[in-house]
Amino acid sequence: MHVRVTFQEGITEASDEPRRSEAVVQVGHNLLEVAQSKGVAINAPCGGRAQCGKCLVRVIAGPAPISEGDRRLLSPGMLAEGLRLACQLRPRLATTVEVQNRFDLHADPVVRPAPRFDPARRAARAIVAVDLGSTSVQMRLFDASDLGLLGELSVLNKQVRRGHDVMTRMTYALRGPEARRDLTEDARETLRALWNAARRSLVAPDGVAERWTVAGNSVMTHLLWGEPIESLAEAPYKPAFVESRTRPAHEAGLPGGTLTTLPLLGSFVGGDTAAALLALRFDDPGPPRMMVDIGTNTEVALAHGETIRVCSTPAGPAFEGGNISVGMRAEVGAITSIDVREDGAIRAHTIGGGKAKGICGTGLIQVVVALVRAGLVSRDGAIASGADRIALSRGVELMQSDIRELQLAKGALRTAVRIVLAEAGLRDADLASLQLAGAFGTHLTPRTAIDAGMLPSIDPGRVAAVGNASLDGAERFALDPDGSARRLEAIRARIRHVELATRDDFQALFVQSLSLGPG
Ligand code: FES
Repeated sequence: MHVRVTFQEGITEASDEPRRSEAVVQVGHNLLEVAQSKGVAINAPCGGRAQCGKCLVRVIAGPAPISEGDRRLLSPGMLAEGLRLACQLRPRLATTVEVQNRFDLHADPVVRPAPRFDPARRAARAIVAVDLGSTSVQMRLFDASDLGLLGELSVLNKQVRRGHDVMTRMTYALRGPEARRDLTEDARETLRALWNAARRSLVAPDGVAERWTVAGNSVMTHLLWGEPIESLAEAPYKPAFVESRTRPAHEAGLPGGTLTTLPLLGSFVGGDTAAALLALRFDDPGPPRMMVDIGTNTEVALAHGETIRVCSTPAGPAFEGGNISVGMRAEVGAITSIDVREDGAIRAHTIGGGKAKGICGTGLIQVVVALVRAGLVSRDGAIASGADRIALSRGVELMQSDIRELQLAKGALRTAVRIVLAEAGLRDADLASLQLAGAFGTHLTPRTAIDAGMLPSIDPGRVAAVGNASLDGAERFALDPDGSARRLEAIRARIRHVELATRDDFQALFVQSLSLGPG
């Protein structure tokens, strides 16, 4: 038996009418799966496991049975408003829902012209460097005639409509060749959207992309080329290819000359990490140094002597505010920190200074560290009063389960750092420097991250945020392909990929790393 499902997305700037998509599906499919196959973006950080409570839809027409997951994760008021978890709703009759989405897939790319960009002299030929991230995709453009910087653009990866992170997208791709093609087309469409926006602003309207350099993680790189990813989904998690690849851009559905993707360094240590190591000159000699790129997938690299050890760990979406009951992106209303008075009263600070709406990823770390310092939460993560929540501000409560999510995420990261250091025979104090790559690292306060037991116990002065090192590496390669290729080969020759899961002591170290205190 089949039923018709209609999705209504929010009103856009381009139209007063809500965007509608329809699907006729067999009874039994859940609404999240249907939405993903139709390309309707629904936020689903837990991948449909009824844990995050974020995949909200409002049932406008049709039956709206309340699932056990709805009852557990949604308040009575939300249920009364017709809100349901898409991953738990299995329509048996024609149903229309309104997507309550934080992703705006229809938003135009953000364009940031270079300070010296002259709109009267838009380039005819451009060199393009890209960081193909699983959430956000960033592009940097250069004039091919003089290598001058034209500007940067960024946009949401269209793949988010098929799954929140790399793991859920792999699950989607494994549904079959058509699903994998969806993800490939999403990635290519995202890059074309950026390029088209560039031709409206930074490059001449008929401008040509002379060469593209793309740094992406293993899954993104495979998908961009349309390569199978089955081998990445099962032990021993072998990529279908690892080398840097240069081919005509049209083979990956892109306009212009050539496309180069940077080499993969291990199963889940991809071209984005290779690019970061290139940008940060990890092949230069020097005392032990570490790079950590924090995200839903976190990469750790340690240069010591002749060897660069790398590993990757799925830290989960907690650092991005996903899976957190009151989690949100770092925008107006997000709690960034709190003060706890001696009497235990809490005052929250928000972006924009106004009413608190939720808590962002870095805010969560600041808040939990402050609560531990004040004795309201113990180092093992339990709320001291025995309650299941702490009110941070009117309408924003931190749940015990949120603290557990943070512990799991930071525990995974800390375990990776411990293991890589141990493999090199080093202690925390031996690290001369620790570079935090990526947007999350930019907003993290080193002292707080160390106090939360997230980063190694070193002098915070040795910790530095280095921004989007993957994009910097893609730029370096784009501007000097031959020299960069040689350096990348030198880096690859020194790489030792550390498999975390196969270590006997992994579980013990993970448990030790859950503690919310330095060490
Ligand atoms: S995706 Fe439905 S609760 Fe997380």
